[in-house]
Amino acid sequence: MIDAPHLGTESLDRREWLRLGAAGAAALGLPACAAWNEGDESSDAPPPLQAPAGVEDAEWEGVRAHFLVEPGVAYLNNASIGMPPRQVVDAVAAGYRAMAELPARGRSDLSARIAERVVPGLARLFSIETDELTLTRNASEALHLQSVGVAMGPGDEVLITTQEHPAGRRPWEFRQAREGIRVNEVFIPSPLPDDEEILSRFADAITPRTRAVAFCHVTRGGHRYPVQAICRLARDRGLVSLVDGAQAVGQFAIDVTELGCDAYSVSLHKWMLAPAGTGFLFVRRDARDRIRTAFAPDATPGRPQFDPPGTTAFPVRAAIGSAVDFVATLGLEAVEARCRFLSDYLKARLADLPGVTPLSGARALSAPGSTIFEKEGLDAVAAVEAIETLASAHIDEHQRDGHNAIRVSTHVYNTTAQVDRFVEALARTTG
Ligand SMILES: Cc1ncc(COP(=O)(O)O)c(C=O)c1O
Repeated sequence: MIDAPHLGTESLDRREWLRLGAAGAAALGLPACAAWNEGDESSDAPPPLQAPAGVEDAEWEGVRAHFLVEPGVAYLNNASIGMPPRQVVDAVAAGYRAMAELPARGRSDLSARIAERVVPGLARLFSIETDELTLTRNASEALHLQSVGVAMGPGDEVLITTQEHPAGRRPWEFRQAREGIRVNEVFIPSPLPDDEEILSRFADAITPRTRAVAFCHVTRGGHRYPVQAICRLARDRGLVSLVDGAQAVGQFAIDVTELGCDAYSVSLHKWMLAPAGTGFLFVRRDARDRIRTAFAPDATPGRPQFDPPGTTAFPVRAAIGSAVDFVATLGLEAVEARCRFLSDYLKARLADLPGVTPLSGARALSAPGSTIFEKEGLDAVAAVEAIETLASAHIDEHQRDGHNAIRVSTHVYNTTAQVDRFVEALARTTG
């Protein structure tokens, strides 16, 4: 197996490079150059990817074989940064090789793939139009673009919630400092109350100066807001609705158009398994009069030009297509069911541990893959390191929203045995 962080000519011998080149070119849909076709000996290639019929570990073994995770590691921190499967890693490497061999041709081939495969593939997966989608480096960039794009003047207000990620909050604070807009924050409790209470908290916080509402689809702690209902409320009050989808995409099927938001910002390098440095911004076609580009002076609603200008990481963007293929082959419904199976298993194991307080809500209020909880007397930050040392299990802390919590985020390739190992290490960790 190739260890992804070591991809590079220093650590790969020539045969390995040749094999990677052919596989990677195939993953990118690019014609492999002659040199790459020599010695294509993929003896360690995983079995062809197939959608498993059920949710049990044994049924997902073939899928697991597509990942390059270091042996012995239980990677349970997928909400932080995802693990690209081998075909994505190969596609990135092949793209950089193409650019190294003949840069202008590499750029042109990769740009064609991005326009013809990547953008249409993403648009199909999320039920939006291709011209409503702008690729970005991450969700933070998309969140900044959507926030600075809303026409607002001094004294106008944006309504955000207390559970926003800094990437969703800071663009508004920037506008507050620079332009004198007001950031109005509504308190949303964690664990989440029911939809009715969330909606009435939003409704009560809207003032005559409110122009926009900006909030998460899924929070960092894995809480799932009733997006459609909040967007309906915003529309009824004449407000722009802007959603942070960084933690939502890739965990379950989403029809972004049906959500009814005006803008939606996405990370592709978490649950979608795309390479690091990928995301996109959706701006609804008929919202282009209220959300405008930060770049082009000659932009119009018909030609909105949201794209940040300049040269981008073509190989990384082109490889998004391999991640979309991977996830689409599995099916997002199957991904959701598998993630839910693992987090249900984790929750059941935690229920047997003394001193553990679960903080994730019921199914409708929680994402399938992320689980948060507190353990009496345990400092969450210290526990992250202790559990990594004890069990090679990688988790994250959630010391926010009033909690001293641990976050465990399980993706399809994790196993119940890894969850067991984590829970056993947690049971032995104190202080
Ligand atoms: C809810 C939420 N929004 C935004 C972000 C930022 O995502 P990115 O790293 O893609 O900019 C994160 C990252 O963890 C997040 O959890």
